[in-house]
Amino acid sequence: MSEAHDIAGAERYPFASRGAPFQVARTEGCYLITPQGRRVLDAAGGAIVVNIGHGRREVAEVYAAAAEEATYVVPPFVTASRARLTERVLDRWVPPGLTRVAFTCGGSESVDGAVRLARQHHLSAGRAGRYKVVGRELSYHGVTLATLAVGGHGKRRAGFEPLLLPQPKVPACYCFRCPLEKSYPDCGVACATALEETILREGPDTVAAFIAEPIGGSTAGALVPPDEYWPRLAEICRRYGVLLVADEVMTGYGRTGKKFAVDHWGITPDILIGGKGLTGGYAPMGAIFATEAVVEPIIEAGDELMFYTYSAHPAGCAVADKVLEILEREHLVERAAAMGLVLRDRLQRLAAHPNVADVRGRGLLHAVELVRDKSTLEPFAKEARLTSKVVAAGLSEDVFFYPGGSDPARDVITLGPPFVITEAEIDQMVEVLGRAITSAVNRAEARTAAAS
Ligand SMILES: Cc1ncc(COP(=O)(O)O)c(C=O)c1O
Repeated sequence: MSEAHDIAGAERYPFASRGAPFQVARTEGCYLITPQGRRVLDAAGGAIVVNIGHGRREVAEVYAAAAEEATYVVPPFVTASRARLTERVLDRWVPPGLTRVAFTCGGSESVDGAVRLARQHHLSAGRAGRYKVVGRELSYHGVTLATLAVGGHGKRRAGFEPLLLPQPKVPACYCFRCPLEKSYPDCGVACATALEETILREGPDTVAAFIAEPIGGSTAGALVPPDEYWPRLAEICRRYGVLLVADEVMTGYGRTGKKFAVDHWGITPDILIGGKGLTGGYAPMGAIFATEAVVEPIIEAGDELMFYTYSAHPAGCAVADKVLEILEREHLVERAAAMGLVLRDRLQRLAAHPNVADVRGRGLLHAVELVRDKSTLEPFAKEARLTSKVVAAGLSEDVFFYPGGSDPARDVITLGPPFVITEAEIDQMVEVLGRAITSAVNRAEARTAAAS
C-alpha cells in the first residue's frame, strides 16, 4: 500500500486537492505524527491555532465529561460550562470594558456575527442609515460571503466578487511596500488617517463599523503597525460614532505575547473577535465580545441577534475554559513573549538569505516575505507557487510551515508554533526553513529556465 493510502478514504479527501494529501495519524506536543511514525514539527500550530500544544489528556477528559453532562442545550440557556467560561474570559482575559460575550463555532462565524452585531446596534439605536463596514486591503476575516466582503485578501476573494457586497477599504498598514508610497515616520501614519478620509467620503451617517486585525495575520504575514496606528484608529472611530472591531482570531489568547494584541497599545475596541486560540484547536469555537454601550440599545429595544445552532456548545465551552486555565497555570502567554524573542533572533539569521526580503512579527506570530530579487522586490511568478514548494520542502525535512501571502505580498511563510516550543525546536524550525526556501527557489528557477 502506498504512503498516500495508509488511511482508508484518503484518496477521496479533500474534494479539491492537488495530489495526495499529507496524512496525520496522531498529534502530540509540537508534533504531527504520520501513519508511518514520522514526527513532523508543527511550526504553524495547525493554522496558527494550537497554543497549548497537541494531545493534552486533561483537555480530552474534560471534553468527554462535558459531553456526557450536557450534550446539547440551545445557546440562550445557561449551562455550568458556559457560565464558567464566560466568567473566566470576561474577568481575566479580554481588555477592560468588554463585558458581554457570545460564543460561536469559529472565526468566520464570529466575524459574521460581529458585522450583524454592529448593524443591529445602530438599527436598535434608530440609526438605520449606518450599514457599511470599512475594512482594509491585505486583510483576512474569513471565507463566508460577508467576511470575504469586509476582508481584503485578493486571492481568496478572486472570482467571488459578484457575490460580495461592496464594502469600503482603506490601505493596508504594510510599511515594507507602503501602498501610499511613503515611509515611516515621515508618513505621519497616513494609512491610519486614511480611515478618516474614507469615513468622510462615504458619509459618517452610513458607516456602522471599521474592522481590522491588530497585527495582520497570514494575508501579508504578521504585519505589525507602528505604535501610533491603533490609538489613531480608535480616536477616528470615536469621533465619527463608528464601532471599532478588532479581529483577533489569529492574534488572540496570547499568540503575540499579550493576552490580546490590542493590549500592546492599551486599546479596548467596541467589539473584539477571537477564535482559534480560545480552544487551542481542541474544539471548534470562537467568540464575539462587546462593551455594554454596544449591547445596551439592542436590549432596550427588545431586539435580538440570532444564534448559530452550535453556538456556545457546552463541551466546547468546557474545553475553552480548560485551555485558558492551562495558559494561566503554565504562564504560557509570558512564554509566547519570551520564545517570540528567541524566534525573532533566529529568524534574523535568515535575513541574509538572498530571497528573504523581510522578517516581521510579534511573539509567536512571525513571518518571512520571499522575493525573487531583493534589490527590486520583484516577486516570483504566480505559477511558480513558491510557498507551496517551501511547504513541500519543509515536510520532506519533517517540519510543517504555514503558507500565506496575497498580492502584493505574494509569498509569505507564517510561523506560529505552540507556546510550549523549545529553543532547540525553534533552531530546527528556522534551519529547515532556510533550506526549504533555497530548495523551493531552486525548483522555481529550474521551472522558469525550462519554460523559456
Ligand atoms: C484574522 C482572522 N479572522 C478570521 C479568520 C477565519 O477564521 P475561521 O477559519 O476559523 O473561520 C481567520 C482565519 O485564519 C483569521 O486569521
